Amino acid sequence: MGTFKHFYHRNYDDRMKLISEFAGLDMNEKHEITSDYHQSSDNLVENYVTDYSIPEGVAVNFMINGVEKIVPMVTEEPSVIAAASNGARLFSKGAGITAEVLGRNLMGQIVVKTNDINLLIGIINTHQGHIIDIANQSHPSILEYGGGAKKVRVRKLDNDYASVDLFVNVGEAMGANIINSMLEATSQFIEERTNCDVLMSILSNYGEDNLVKVSGSIPFSQLGNPDNNGSDVAQRIVEASHIAQIDPYRAATHNKGIMNGIDAVVMAMGNDWRAVEAGIHSYASKDGQYKGLSNWTIDGDNLVGEMTIPLSLAFIGGAVKVLSKVKINQHLSQVTSKEELSQVVASVGLAQNLAALRALVTDGIQKGHMNLQLNSLVMSAGAKDKEINQVVSKMRANHLNDLKSAQKILNQIRNNNEGEF
Ligand code: MEV
Repeated sequence: MGTFKHFYHRNYDDRMKLISEFAGLDMNEKHEITSDYHQSSDNLVENYVTDYSIPEGVAVNFMINGVEKIVPMVTEEPSVIAAASNGARLFSKGAGITAEVLGRNLMGQIVVKTNDINLLIGIINTHQGHIIDIANQSHPSILEYGGGAKKVRVRKLDNDYASVDLFVNVGEAMGANIINSMLEATSQFIEERTNCDVLMSILSNYGEDNLVKVSGSIPFSQLGNPDNNGSDVAQRIVEASHIAQIDPYRAATHNKGIMNGIDAVVMAMGNDWRAVEAGIHSYASKDGQYKGLSNWTIDGDNLVGEMTIPLSLAFIGGAVKVLSKVKINQHLSQVTSKEELSQVVASVGLAQNLAALRALVTDGIQKGHMNLQLNSLVMSAGAKDKEINQVVSKMRANHLNDLKSAQKILNQIRNNNEGEF
């Protein structure tokens, strides 16, 4: 113990020396880490060692509110971008995806200990305007952009605790710092006026007033494949969506598929995906049971998908400003505001869900998945550069999809000794 005392004060070379000795890194490992050093990242996080890179690709075929988009996605899961593009293509056979931002307010809470909730409610109601002024004065620039604190309410939590909730339009930023400063300024006033003890003040990631709604329809004729006709596929997708409403076990996986797409765009756009995850999953339990986020129904000869989710995103500030690729990614997807970004993120979630459900209720997920997973399987077997394609082709031709076979084929290629498969 003691090796890492004041570690964060040390310069990069010292830090690397210490951790390399501690963990016993060899020369190659050290080189791999240090060759991805970036000064800008060193200033971004404490105890920085390297940039950890994840592939970025673009999903295509998106038609959102009548405009064609390509969408940058950052993910290590091989099938995600293909599935998003596939789902988007199906929606584009209808009128594309319609996306609408329903609310723009983030909520923050001041948790107070009180044995007289009625007194607290009375004081907060009487001083609504003043509380909103105090909040806004702690971050006046927000008013210039049409933002600012909008309303206050009190919620009883139990017999001892209540939450004073402040709703704030945080403009184009993610708003965590804005709202937290507002809450701290406001909590002082509340403590003085009500004699309540303020336990803590912090934004809530439960985004009830920060919702985005997306919907779209696909003609049955686009949903079939050689083994299934389109109306059967549509009917089975409706049933799959129903199961996610009644079974939390399935809902978790249904929503994981949606988040495959959402997280990947949120990462590409330099946003806080933990906040997005927390908000969306808690919203999935809003009825007291964890449920699927999307709903699929039939309307005439069309399958109709719809989803409403909270999204707390930033178009400016924070990591959006610091991570150099984010501006380019905003440009790639032609988003010019938080509103458009929210529409794109939610649309990708719905397209991702469509592709997953269609695969699940027809061929099963493994067929498409395994095709795309083969590359990473072959890489994890040790194949490099040209070898990757060579091994993948052999695996495909022989209907193989396991690591042992990949290693065997790789060895044969390396020994130039191609045996029978
Ligand atoms: C896998 O990453 C995602 C799926 O499991 C989603 C789903 O089951 O709906 C295919």
